[in-house]
Amino acid sequence: MVTMKGVVLAGGTGSRLFPLTRVTNKHLLPIYDRPMVFYPIQTLVDAGITDILLVTGGHSAGDFLRLLGNGKDFGLRHLSYAYQEGEGGIADALRLAEHFADEHPICVVLGDNIIEGNIIAGCEEFRRAGTGAHIFLKEVPHPERFGVPVFESGRIVRIEEKPQHPQSNYAVTGFYLYDTTVFQKIRVLKPSGRGELEITDLNNQYLAEGQLRHSVMEGWWTDAGTFESLLLANNLVAKGGANKVGAVKAGVRSREASGKS
Ligand code: DAU
Repeated sequence: MVTMKGVVLAGGTGSRLFPLTRVTNKHLLPIYDRPMVFYPIQTLVDAGITDILLVTGGHSAGDFLRLLGNGKDFGLRHLSYAYQEGEGGIADALRLAEHFADEHPICVVLGDNIIEGNIIAGCEEFRRAGTGAHIFLKEVPHPERFGVPVFESGRIVRIEEKPQHPQSNYAVTGFYLYDTTVFQKIRVLKPSGRGELEITDLNNQYLAEGQLRHSVMEGWWTDAGTFESLLLANNLVAKGGANKVGAVKAGVRSREASGKS
């Protein structure tokens, strides 16, 4: 299989964190001892992905260049950048990665997602499968804040975005592995009720084709897009660190596409 490329999505206005994000981008805020965006980049690098595109937007885009440069802090020789106009949703931001991906499979990471461990096992499983998509699930206390898989007879039958009445206790975390058909699929997406191109609709397309696999993340996972989760992320990282390779395995409890978790 050709090498996988990485995409970090760090656009959006971060409006749930106003006034923290009124003059800066959410992904530049500190999580313990480093800016938030360092964690998703490290997750990619830990998985052996070194050709990385950062998609950002809003008024602080230049700060990413000053902060990250060519990726020296991560042992990279080069980093690519793209700019998202407006806040059209996660799949809209991902659309901008088509030229960069250049017919390679991609690993997409949401810029506010932080993990204790790594995604290495899931990436290996995806490489073995060769086609389709792979998502990482995590059991959470409040699934209604996230994309939530619905299981029937132990198989995922659909993913619901922020359902009022979640049908399972799992969240779809912000790590996604896609084959080269991803951009064709984004082209046919329609904006959701909140006016965004949803990553959940994209994943549901793969599911409809029987091409969505998943694994369950080991170790803690959190986003950092609300005051509560930002505080939680800081505390978790301060207590034990993030992005551990070796100690915590991700995706070891892996199942087939629609298999039971
Ligand atoms: O964290 C996992 C969750 O992320 C998933 O369970 C949901 O299915 C998925 O929709 C998403 O939910 P959120 O509502 O938490 O996403 P949010 O709008 O906070 O965006 C997450 C990241 O995506 C953000 O940190 C930067 C990037 N993004 C988002 C939007 C809306 C962009 O790059 N551009 C955008 O227009």
